[in-house]
Amino acid sequence: MSTTSVSSSVLLILLSFFYLAISMGASSLTHHGDFIKCLSDHSNTSIPVYTPQNSNYSFILQSTMASLKFNTSTTPKPFLILTPLKESHVQTAVICSKKHGIQIKVRSGGHDFEGLSYISDVPFIIVDLFNLKKIDVDVNSKVAWVQSGATTGEIYYKIAKKSKTLGFPAAICTTVGVGGHFSGGGYGFMLRKYGTAADNVIDARIVDAHGLFWAIRGGGGGSFGIVVSWKIKLVSVPPVVTVFSVEKTLAEGATSLVHKWQQVAHELPQELFLILSLGVVNAIPKGNKTILATFASMFLGDAKKLHAVMQERFPELGLENKHYIEVSWIQSVLLFDGFPMNSSMNVLVNRPQPKSLAKAKSDYVKQVIPQIELEKIWERILKDEQTGMVFIPYGGKMSEIAESETPFPHRNGTLFKVLYLVYWTEEQVESSKKYIKQIRRMYEFMTPYVSKSPREAYANYRDLDLGQTSKNGTASYAQAKVWGSKYFKDNFDKLVYVKSKVDPDNFFRNEQSIPSIPIFRDYFNITM
Ligand SMILES: Cc1cc2nc3c(=O)[nH]c(=O)nc-3n(C[C@H](O)[C@H](O)[C@H](O)COP(=O)(O)OP(=O)(O)OC[C@H]3O[C@@H](n4cnc5c(N)ncnc54)[C@H](O)[C@@H]3O)c2cc1C
Ligand SMILES: *[C@@H]1O[C@H](CO)[C@@H](O)[C@H](O)[C@H]1NC(C)=O
Ligand SMILES: *[C@@H]1O[C@H](CO)[C@@H](O)[C@H](O)[C@H]1NC(C)=O
Ligand SMILES: *[C@@H]1O[C@H](CO)[C@@H](O)[C@H](O)[C@H]1NC(C)=O
Ligand SMILES: *[C@@H]1O[C@H](CO)[C@@H](O)[C@H](O)[C@H]1NC(C)=O
Ligand SMILES: *[C@@H]1O[C@H](CO)[C@@H](O)[C@H](O)[C@H]1NC(C)=O
Ligand SMILES: *[C@@H]1O[C@H](CO)[C@@H](O)[C@H](O)[C@H]1NC(C)=O
Ligand SMILES: *[C@@H]1O[C@H](CO)[C@@H](O)[C@H](O)[C@H]1NC(C)=O
Repeated sequence: MSTTSVSSSVLLILLSFFYLAISMGASSLTHHGDFIKCLSDHSNTSIPVYTPQNSNYSFILQSTMASLKFNTSTTPKPFLILTPLKESHVQTAVICSKKHGIQIKVRSGGHDFEGLSYISDVPFIIVDLFNLKKIDVDVNSKVAWVQSGATTGEIYYKIAKKSKTLGFPAAICTTVGVGGHFSGGGYGFMLRKYGTAADNVIDARIVDAHGLFWAIRGGGGGSFGIVVSWKIKLVSVPPVVTVFSVEKTLAEGATSLVHKWQQVAHELPQELFLILSLGVVNAIPKGNKTILATFASMFLGDAKKLHAVMQERFPELGLENKHYIEVSWIQSVLLFDGFPMNSSMNVLVNRPQPKSLAKAKSDYVKQVIPQIELEKIWERILKDEQTGMVFIPYGGKMSEIAESETPFPHRNGTLFKVLYLVYWTEEQVESSKKYIKQIRRMYEFMTPYVSKSPREAYANYRDLDLGQTSKNGTASYAQAKVWGSKYFKDNFDKLVYVKSKVDPDNFFRNEQSIPSIPIFRDYFNITM
């Protein structure tokens, strides 16, 4: 059992590689000791393991649980948690969980909105990759090897330490884990210039043979195996980038600005990313609530150039020189993740994970929403004021990449993505229900304005409202296609094909994993 055959490229710990080595009949699991013995039988070095009796079990379980919604006594807990120190430990974990017939949940950064990396409806173990966070940056060839347990912030840090003119186009949030993030696409302020994070993961020889390399770059985490490390292509950034953030209330003309934004944001130069967030605030001086539209931007260029673009394309926003801030790319990363001006980039490394009570949903918009309809949307938001929306502009590089290039299908023709987000602070379950209802109402209300057949959604904004594979992860094709076509459009069938070939037993599964369907394996021959 060695990893050498795959370690030269994207390293997938795949069941099929050592399938034959495993005795078939899975024994049922009653004692932690049996499992731990299996681990030591299959590994020469000891693998850190935490059982519920271990005093650090809860600490580890909660450490990267980004959603506090699942930090309750009734949330199903893992049989044990493994924290591999090297790649072979991950393989051992897979061997033993297969042997004992227990489900594996793999966790990298723990940001899954539905907690799928650390909860399950069936007995399970967590393979937590937080120790596997090595990042090797090679400035000369402009590539890096990144282990899944690293955060996006740690990648940015490592790159910025070595170069002022290289970057990587991944999440805005710097605590997101690489493992899940790359698996579902991944975007940030350079989306329009360089595409998704997955678009910048470099090809791999061995997994290509199975079509796996295609599947893992956007097909969602947890369906195909455990990706231990990724080779990524670094991208050029200028020494100086320019940022701004301006806010407009309804009284200040937000409605017509949002209307205009929809027409221009996707057609701006690729170097310019202008994101729009909408939420309810108290009107100033006081009294009524109003909508606040925040236009925040990162431009890969200097202020002078940016001003010229804004004057020409979006003069209504009324930008002046005082609005522009010229900073390094890494400073822009820090600013947009909420750190104050001139923060040290050291804050990106070993950062404590911010936690929240939240639910997210997503949509894609293909036609400009008329002003009169925007006004109706404002009324809806004002009634459910905890729910906000973020409009993420597409176009640019995103339009140039074919829908079938990776599983991530939201490309040309998309004006922008909508992220719906509801936050709350009350810990009671009743409150959760109330706020989740709010965001569902908002989503329902938006139906006429967003993509149809399928109504598209972003796999990394995991949403179990869209459907589940089935409670226990064994699903029919038709059941899974309901949510699968939203995340992946026509790529869903190809994902089912790859899944059925490489994981016929559906070992790697979760509540929303790609189903393994024998007929796909036997009768279809899809070209990768
Ligand atoms: C606060 C917050 C901010 C966010 N900001 C952004 C953003 O700016 N841009 C963006 O695109 N998205 C953003 N997201 C969404 C984020 O990209 C996804 O939640 C992503 O899947 C998180 O990856 P993770 O490793 O942290 O999560 P995890 O919960 O660890 O994993 C997510 C899924 O992937 C699986 N998985 C994890 N590691 C592996 C692995 N090594 N191999 C195979 N499968 C694996 C898990 O089992 C699970 O199913 C944000 C989410 C949150 C909560
Ligand atoms: C353990 O070490 C021995 C001797 O070096 C080697 O033959 C064997 O393959 C190793 N086993 C595992 C599981 O790594
Ligand atoms: C267990 O937790 C304690 C206290 O938080 C910590 O000092 C110790 O390093 C942890 N041990 C392991 C093995 O994680
Ligand atoms: C999770 O819940 C436990 C028990 O109620 C509590 O002690 C712990 O602080 C919570 N964790 C976080 C990160 O809030
Ligand atoms: C507040 O809203 C009410 C009802 O919409 C309106 O009559 C009133 O003029 C508003 N007050 C202010 C200060 O805008
Ligand atoms: C940030 O640093 C620059 C350069 O040292 C300095 O000119 C500027 O005033 C600083 N800004 C803040 C807000 O501290
Ligand atoms: C995107 O689609 C539009 C409309 O169908 C088409 O005119 C344009 O050429 C496409 N762009 C790219 C880059 O394929
Ligand atoms: C899984 O759930 C389905 C219904 O959703 C059920 O028919 C099936 O028996 C379950 N399988 C297992 C192994 O629990």
